[in-house]
Amino acid sequence: MNTILLDAQDPKTPAFAADLIRQGRLVAIPTETVYGLGADGLNPEAVAKIFAAKGRPGDNPLILHVTDPEQMPRFCHHIPEAAYLLAERFWPGPLTMVLPANPCVPKRTTGGLSTVAIRCPKTEVTREIIRLAGVPIAAPSANLSGKPSTTTAQHVLHDHRGRIDAIVDGGPCAVGVESTIVDLTESRPRLLRPGGVTPEELTAVLGDLVVDKAVTAPVRGDAIVKAPGMKYRHYAPQEPVVIVSGPREKAAAYIRAHFTPGDRVLCFEEELPLYTGCAPLAYGREADASSLSAGLFAALRILDDPTIGRVYARCPEGGGIAYAVQNRLKKAAAFHIVDAEAEP
Ligand code: TXA
Ligand code: MG
Repeated sequence: MNTILLDAQDPKTPAFAADLIRQGRLVAIPTETVYGLGADGLNPEAVAKIFAAKGRPGDNPLILHVTDPEQMPRFCHHIPEAAYLLAERFWPGPLTMVLPANPCVPKRTTGGLSTVAIRCPKTEVTREIIRLAGVPIAAPSANLSGKPSTTTAQHVLHDHRGRIDAIVDGGPCAVGVESTIVDLTESRPRLLRPGGVTPEELTAVLGDLVVDKAVTAPVRGDAIVKAPGMKYRHYAPQEPVVIVSGPREKAAAYIRAHFTPGDRVLCFEEELPLYTGCAPLAYGREADASSLSAGLFAALRILDDPTIGRVYARCPEGGGIAYAVQNRLKKAAAFHIVDAEAEP
């Protein structure tokens, strides 16, 4: 199969991509978070192709992408007032809500669950493609299963050249980490995955938010978790990643003492001078957490290299978007964290 690269700026792109979607084909689409691997979310055969292309376990459900909140009742029922409040405040944008699914949503899409995840992306070309296709687009992050997510069309091409029909190139994704997921099917709203909409922003609207334990701690492969995707190995380069926490100079001293040739350091731009000779790679500025979220996956992809021995990584602290960066980096490190201050 020849994978066609479509320019998001080309006025013919939305109709062309929408046609492919209607034909049950696979089209990678840009969103403000990461690139998605899209197909007609109501067509089980089309959705099955997503799982095959990604190598994704069949029990890991997909997000349905729609253009506006009015479409929620088509695909969901028992929609609480909170869902409309969140949609009004954060859609289009990096927020996904989990709600009870209507029968029109195939079990293939929901991974067999009775609920469905739904989101309204912000990127205009993708909204136009959904509109013209006339169906919701089911799309997971477009990376091969287990690999760091795709934040450029080139990342998607790298993973899927010859395996999917087309990629819409909309340039690099602004947010850079996947959407925030909130489960609204229980009595209390539950954060299943932190992302571009921060826990603080959610709490301001909802007045209440439970953080699922899979967000902050490792999950065993056989565990029953709310978001099935949480239990799989994620975002990880092939070599081990170790997060070194603590003040800048202490962390640098620890890393320099343990560094062996072939290792790499993933750090903040402000820290580059501390790692001369240690093959440092900066993924953004510590003083600007959104630069870290925008740069994280591209950096993890560069570091996904069999010649690398070990990656020592620096992780931002605090809330806001930094909370989502911590979550992805800790998962990439399989929660292997060393506190430089506690080390001799
Ligand atoms: O930003 C994003 O959300 C991107 C872009 C393309 O929209 N998509 C994305 O999809 O990150 P994916 O498939 O990589 O991650 C979706 C996560 C998975 O962990 C999955 O298990 C969870 O959402 N999920 C999907 N449906 C669910 C449901 N009904 N209940 C609980 N978790 C669900
Ligand atoms: Mg993903």
